[in-house]
Parts: sequence; structure tokens; C-alpha cells
Amino acid sequence: MEIYPPVEQRFSPFDFYSLMRKNNPIVFDEENERWGVYRYDDIEKILRDHSSFSSKFGPLDLPLGIPPEYEENIHRPSLINSDPPYHRKLRSIVDTLFVPIEISKLAPRIENIVNELIDKIIEQNSNTATSTMDLISDFAYPLPAIVIAELLGVPFEDRDTYHQWADVIVGLEENSNIDYIKKVSKTFDEMDVYFSKLIEERKKSSSSTKDNDDDDDTLISRIIRAKVDEDSSLSEREILTFSHLLLNAGHITTVNLIGNSIFSLLENPQELKKLQENKNSLIKPTIEETLRYRSPVQLVIRIANDDVTLSEKKEEGVGGREIEKQEIKIKKGQKIILFLGSANHDESIFTDPERFDINRKNLRHMAFGTGIHFCLGAPLARLEGQIALRTILERFDNLQFDFDYSDRQDLYTKVTPLKSSLFLGLSHLPIRFQTKNRQ
Ligand code: HEM
Repeated sequence: MEIYPPVEQRFSPFDFYSLMRKNNPIVFDEENERWGVYRYDDIEKILRDHSSFSSKFGPLDLPLGIPPEYEENIHRPSLINSDPPYHRKLRSIVDTLFVPIEISKLAPRIENIVNELIDKIIEQNSNTATSTMDLISDFAYPLPAIVIAELLGVPFEDRDTYHQWADVIVGLEENSNIDYIKKVSKTFDEMDVYFSKLIEERKKSSSSTKDNDDDDDTLISRIIRAKVDEDSSLSEREILTFSHLLLNAGHITTVNLIGNSIFSLLENPQELKKLQENKNSLIKPTIEETLRYRSPVQLVIRIANDDVTLSEKKEEGVGGREIEKQEIKIKKGQKIILFLGSANHDESIFTDPERFDINRKNLRHMAFGTGIHFCLGAPLARLEGQIALRTILERFDNLQFDFDYSDRQDLYTKVTPLKSSLFLGLSHLPIRFQTKNRQ
């Protein structure tokens, strides 16, 4: 049974997930040899049980049977694909840096970046009758890329290079061919070379300013300086892998949060109107509703550490009455795909889940996962999303799609979704707007 949403539904896989939750909530894909899990409660249970379900083969969803050297290069041990106690050791290095109170200090800088990007867009339109932009390439991509580059200490001038790396990673699919896998593995090698040089420079500059090397508070330098296990530091390879992860996780995902929020508001003009009338109180809930409705990361992966039995409740007919309970046996070593995007539309948790509703009260979404691997960057992604949305509404009026469409199905054919089952987002989003006078 096919466990991934059909390609043409990738940007709005709601109907597919709804059928899976109803008819095949935990199902084995014989061809790709992996389980698909769709209901909120089952996914939450698995994510909270890290001793039975390992993270060792995440976060990228690789096809079956690829040569081990590529698999090992792509799935090298890192924070996101390790289990305790190693996971705890790595997480303790960065945990305190990403707490909301620390992240909130970045707000003024993020506001500056957002306003500079908007100034540039307005300037590009200064001689045109109708103002337009590609929301993704002109705004949603550069914002998180600049923020994470500054935090890490990666020169933003190199953005074209890491944009290319990000595109290769985003293009990876569960059925990518071997040539594509080689390309991903080569991308990891290129990132190693790039970060090795950067780490070397950081080490040199901190040894030449020995007395005040704590002044260099870029993330890479903090990771280099971090002491783990009494007195030892991370190895060169561990520092490299940590840097890759933060750079990639820090921008690929947040681009989609920003793009998906604007798309979903334009698709639901009544919600946009509500938001414009209540900016102060509704910006945060709109970002949370976007995370739930069009979750930027659609799935996470676990491997069974042992044989495990899960019980699946089958529901049918009037009122979703439970009629049958079935035991599902997952074998040691089997791969399990947990569809967060489906959990976030589960009708047993969210009322009227297929409605984009910025007044929604229940915001228990799992867009950032749950359990020990809960997204490290959640406070940062939320802050960037909120500032981006608020500033767009403050500086632009009359936002509209810059293309004609007659109904929803037609609308989906006019945009270019990412070709990914892991990330849900758009590669382009043309919009029209009017510039407001700044007070
Ligand atoms: C809207 C934006 C984002 C979404 C939807 C998102 C989603 C997720 C999810 C679902 C996980 C859990 C993975 C798992 O359980 O296997 C995760 C983990 C992680 N995320 Fe994010 N993320 C976002 C932004 C960021 C940002 C800005 C950073 C940058 C610092 C970041 C860094 C990480 C890291 C390092 C982990 C691994 C944490 C661990 O394993 O302990 N993420 N993210």
C-alpha cells in the first residue's frame, strides 16, 4: 500500500491523510518496506517512547537498498538522529541558547532584516504600475537564511552556495534514484569542506585572542568551545555535523512557515480580513494555525528497537463508532514514518480540522514534534514567522495572488509546490500588493 500522499496533493494532502486515518491508520508499505502512521495519539505515543523507537535513521527519508557508504554519510550521528545518552550530551550544548528568553533578544535584529528586505522589494517596484514580488525568493527564503547565518557565524555572501545545498536536500524523496542519492552525499561532502575551513578560522581567531575568546558568541564558536564529558570537546566531525544540521534545519523549514502562512491567508480571505482587524491578538495564533494546517515538516522517522505490538483502533460508519481493535506487530529494525501533517488534522483532536481558522483555541499541534527531539529551533521559527507576518501586514495593503484562478483546485495548479513528501511548501509564490505609507 502506498503510504505517501500522491504528488499532485503534496501541497494540500488533507483528503489522502483523512482516508488513511480512517481506513489504514497504521499500515505497512510492502514495496518500500516501511510503516506509515497517521493518527495523532499513535504518533504521540511513538515519539514519547524513545527507548522502543530509535531516531537513528532520520531525518531524511532515504529509499531502500542504497549503498551503505552513502547511507552512512547522509545519516551520520547528529543531534536529530541519535538516542540517549549521546543525544542528551549534544542537546545540552545548545539547549540554553535556544530558550525563548534568549531568542527574544534577537527580535530587534530580525525586525531590521525584515524591513530591509521589504525596502528592497519596494525599491524594485518603484517604476512599475503594479507592485509584485515572489514571496519565496524575495522574502521568505532570505529572512531565515540571514538569521541562521548570523547566529552560526556563516558569511551570508555564501548564501547561493547553501541555497543550492538546501535545494538538493529538499529535492530528496523516498523514491529518489541512486544518482540523486550520490548528489545528496556529495552535498554533505561539500558542506564538510566548507565548514572545516570556517571552523579552522574560528579556532585560529580564538587562539589569537585567548584572553577574551568568550566574546565570540557565534554558535559555531560556542560548539567548538563546548566541554562535554568533564574536559573533552566535540570531535572535528561532530562539530561539522552539528553545523550542517543547524544551518539546514534553521532555514529550510522556516521558509515554508512564512510562505505557507501567506498562502493560507490569501486562500482564505475572511481569515486575512480578521487578522488585519486584530493584528495584535491574532498574529501568534495565525502562525500556530499555519504550523498545524500546513505543517512545514510533514513527517519524522523512527526505527523499532525491538519487536513491538501496537493496537490499532478501526473506526467505521455513523459517528466514527469504534468497531474493531487490531494488533499491529512491528518487527525490530523496521522503519516507521510518522505523518505529523496528518496528526495535525486528526478530527479526534481538532474540531473541523480541514478549516484554516486563526481563532482556533486548541493549538496542540505537533508541527515541531514531541518528546526528547522536540524542535530546538521552535522559539526562533515562531519569532521569525510572527515578525515577518506582522511587518508584511504593516507595510503592504491589498495583498493578492499574482495570477488568476477560479476555484481551489485551479489555485493549486497555479503554484509550484516543493517536490517533497518531507517538507510542505512552495518554491515560488507570486503576489501583488500596494505599499502603505510608513507612519
Ligand atoms: C517552522 C520551522 C520548523 C519546523 C516545522 C521544525 C520541525 C522540527 C521537527 C518536527 C523536529 C523533530 C524531529 C524528530 O523528532 O525527529 C525538529 C527538530 C529539530 N529542529 Fe526544527 N523545525 C523548524 C525550525 C527550526 C529552526 C529555525 C532550527 C534552528 C536552530 C531547528 C533546529 C532543529 C534541531 C537541531 C532539531 C533536532 C532536535 C533534537 O533532535 O533534539 N528547527 N524540528
